[in-house]
Amino acid sequence: MPHPTLYVARLLPAPVMTAITERFQLTSSPHVEPPRRTDLLDGFRQATAAICTLTEHLDAEVLDAAPSLRVVANYAVGYNNIDLDAARSRGVIVTNTPDVLTEATADLTWALLFAVARRVAEGDHFMRAGTWGGWEPTQMLGADVFGKTLGIMGMGRIGRAVAERARGFTMPVLYWSRRPVPVPGPDNQCLWAPFEEVLARADFLSLHVPLTPETHHLMSAGALRQMRPTAFLINTSRGSVVDEGALVDALTEGRLAGAGLDVYEREPELHPALLRLPQVVVLPHLGSATLSTRVRMGMMCIENIQAVLEGRPALNRVV
Ligand code: DGY
Repeated sequence: MPHPTLYVARLLPAPVMTAITERFQLTSSPHVEPPRRTDLLDGFRQATAAICTLTEHLDAEVLDAAPSLRVVANYAVGYNNIDLDAARSRGVIVTNTPDVLTEATADLTWALLFAVARRVAEGDHFMRAGTWGGWEPTQMLGADVFGKTLGIMGMGRIGRAVAERARGFTMPVLYWSRRPVPVPGPDNQCLWAPFEEVLARADFLSLHVPLTPETHHLMSAGALRQMRPTAFLINTSRGSVVDEGALVDALTEGRLAGAGLDVYEREPELHPALLRLPQVVVLPHLGSATLSTRVRMGMMCIENIQAVLEGRPALNRVV
C-alpha cells in the first residue's frame, strides 16, 4: 500500500519530521520559512491531508486546490488562520493541538509578567552595554508581583494554568470570560468579575481568549483607558486581540506601566514604537516554543490525520 499523501507547510522538529516521513508521502519539501502562496497551493493539490501552522491562511481557494483533501491538522491550538465554514462545506475535517501546549504557554506568560515587572530585559541590555557602575539604591526600580491582583481575560485551558501559578505568589485572580467556569484552588482566590471590573482592578492583566470576530480588539483604546496607570498588560494569545496602535498610545502617554508581548497584529511586523519603549518586553511568538511541546504538537497532528484517514474519529476535531 503506498503511503497517504501529506502536505506539511513548515519544517517541524526533527522527531516529528522522522515520524511523518515513515508514515506519509510528502507532496513537497517543507522549509523553515512560510511557503509562498503559489507553493502552498501546489503543495495542497495532491494532498489527502495537510499539517499547517498559524502562518498559513487556509481559505476556499486553498481547499479547492486539493480535491482529495480529507483533513487539515493545524499545528496550533488557535485556528483563526483557517476558514472553518469553507472547510465544513467541503467536508474537510480540521483539528488543532489543545492541552499539550497549555503549560508551556502559561510558563511563558509568567516569564513575560516577571520580565516587565522586574525590568529583566532592560537590566540585561544595561549589563551588556558594559556601563554598570555598581549597586545603587534607586536603580531600575520595578513593581511588586507577590500579592498583586492578576486579571485574566479568557478562562480556558491556558487561562486556568496561568491562574493556578498565581497561588504560589499569593495573588488574587479576577477573571472575565463569557460565563463563570469551575476553577480549581481555594475559595475566593480566583473569582469571575465583569469585564470592566477586571480592567479596573488588575495590576497585571493577561489575555487568554481565542481570536474571533468578538474578541478582535477586545483591548480597544477604551478598554485600555480603564486600566490602572500602574498596571501591566501581558499578551500570549493573538495580536489582534489588542489594538496595537492604542496600546502604543497608552504606553507612550503613561496610562499603562508596561506590556509583555509575544504576539502582534501583523506578525512578523510589529508597531515600530514598541521597540523604542523600555517598559515593553517583546518576544517572537514563543508561547509553545519548548522542544517537547513542539514535538507533542506534531505527534498530535499525526495522530489526528491517521485517525481520519483510517476512518476513526479525529481526537481534536474543530470542524
Ligand atoms: C497556538 O498554538 O495557537 C500558538 O500560538 C502557537 O503554538
